[in-house]
Amino acid sequence: MTHSLDGKEIILGVTGSIAAYKAVEILRELTGRGAAVTVVMTESAQRFVSPLTFETLSRRPILTDLFALDYDKQIGHVATGGRADLYLIAPATANTIAKLAHGIADDFLTNLYLSCTCPVLLAPAMDREMYAHPTVQENLTRLKARGVHVLETEYGELASGLIGRGRLADLLTICGEVEGLLTHQEDLQGETVLVTAGPTQEPLDPVRFLSNRSSGRMGFAIAQAARDRGAHVLLVSGPTSLPTPPGVTRTDVTTAEEMLHAVLGQLDATTILIMAAAVADYRPSTHAPKKMKKQESLTIELLRNPDILAEAGRQKESRILVGFAAETEDLVSNAREKLQKKHLDLIVANDIRVGFGGETTRVTILDRQGQVEELPELSKREVAHQILDRVVAVRRGD
Ligand code: CTP
Repeated sequence: MTHSLDGKEIILGVTGSIAAYKAVEILRELTGRGAAVTVVMTESAQRFVSPLTFETLSRRPILTDLFALDYDKQIGHVATGGRADLYLIAPATANTIAKLAHGIADDFLTNLYLSCTCPVLLAPAMDREMYAHPTVQENLTRLKARGVHVLETEYGELASGLIGRGRLADLLTICGEVEGLLTHQEDLQGETVLVTAGPTQEPLDPVRFLSNRSSGRMGFAIAQAARDRGAHVLLVSGPTSLPTPPGVTRTDVTTAEEMLHAVLGQLDATTILIMAAAVADYRPSTHAPKKMKKQESLTIELLRNPDILAEAGRQKESRILVGFAAETEDLVSNAREKLQKKHLDLIVANDIRVGFGGETTRVTILDRQGQVEELPELSKREVAHQILDRVVAVRRGD
């Protein structure tokens, strides 16, 4: 049986955060996907989790001592850095991030950062106030500018009991990012892919709005997959709580009108447009400046929102256009009609009765030649790659 990370050499750097125990799961997941993993720990990480745990699971010695030669009798950090395909530091504390940003190399883990030539991926984890501190944010910006990939932390309950940003990104996000960085083909190099994602919100008054159940996950997965395949990626997102994939340029919008302007403003630079957003078809005709008080009954007049994809279809030129069709009945015939009407190259149809907002989805992809491909239930990352495979085929004129 083959695995997605077969033959890959990964260094997993573990630093002294309460989230260090999660690195054990990361190690298991990466080895389960076929990678060979060498674990490097800081001194404080060893106070949270025993090196023996990592040693047993990785079946390799744990690197902690700067002055030890490694098993090939070479200078440890130099030899290890030269062999790796990726250096993942998870969790990365504020202290380690600061050292990396300023070139301080006072232990094995930070020396390795300076000596390795492979891509580096950081998954920070710390308390809310520390993560928000301008010093930490500046250090992260500095590292990103040097090409280090940085995953955003998640929002939720922290070890301190506070609620906020600072939690280590979840296991599947981290391993998905690793996979993306290590298994990409460069078949979208030279393309600028504009992806829209999430719902739009159409305000009624300062506290109420009309919207839909879109989570934004599909669009974010496409943005990440396109970046992995070498594209320059622009993401226009409605309100979601999802972190921006590293290397993707994001514009946040709220309403359909705002999304229209963000898309049209970047259309000239775009070679592939993928409209995964669930744009609200209507907006209230008035937006009350003050909160509306209760009444016996309320009639709201709704106006049609602009159709962003149809507008992009009118200005198509050589741009590849991909739409989505969320349907509850007559999936294929409705999707085919939208494909024709909006001048699309591909349309991805999903039966929303199967599920909405989850990690997996089932879609049918239709093209202009009348081909209809029904895919099995797959992760959104895999669906994203399936869509991009077909985009590449359209570009090649297959
Ligand atoms: N879309 C858009 N602008 C809108 C509505 C939809 O750009 N105002 C895009 C969506 O992002 C999607 C595609 O059009 O890629 C299909 O959207 P959908 O709502 O399923 O279809 P509609 O054409 O709006 O038709 P209907 O609501 O009648 O099914």
